[in-house]
Amino acid sequence: MSTNKLHIDAYERNWMVFSAVMLVLFATAVSVAAFGMGIQVPAPEQRVDPRTVATDPNSPWSNPGLREISTGKYDAYILARAIPNWEYLPKELTVPVGSSVSFYVTSPDVQHGFKIQDTNANFMVIPGQVSKLTVTFDEPGTYNFICTEYCGSGHGVMYGAIIVTP
Ligand code: CUA
Repeated sequence: MSTNKLHIDAYERNWMVFSAVMLVLFATAVSVAAFGMGIQVPAPEQRVDPRTVATDPNSPWSNPGLREISTGKYDAYILARAIPNWEYLPKELTVPVGSSVSFYVTSPDVQHGFKIQDTNANFMVIPGQVSKLTVTFDEPGTYNFICTEYCGSGHGVMYGAIIVTP
């Protein structure tokens, strides 16, 4: 005797239901994080020539620093470099509390990192690419940033700070 009806063991069926529910949960969590909370993976903003990005007068990184776009909105052009010294240019930025700052970071030499303490900003800085991320500073204080990619003997002294004034 045989039946055409497919038999699925209760134990197996429970695991199939459990797997399907988990997939839906994960997809929901990713969607809420990406579209509801704005958590997104940084992508290259643009490509630049690392040989001239720091010297070309038409390149914003030849004069790195803050630009006020509108009230409370800033663009910060930051150069992360190992030659001649391991450093960020500029090393320090000051903005008033509540400011929204878009960071455009690139490197003329080797790969660096850029992580800002107490924010979700943490990305690689790759020669030839521009990494961009926007951070809103709602609390006054000093937000240190550091290099998170080993870039040579001066890696450990590669840091700076964003001062958010009341
Ligand atoms: Cu720059 Cu490590």
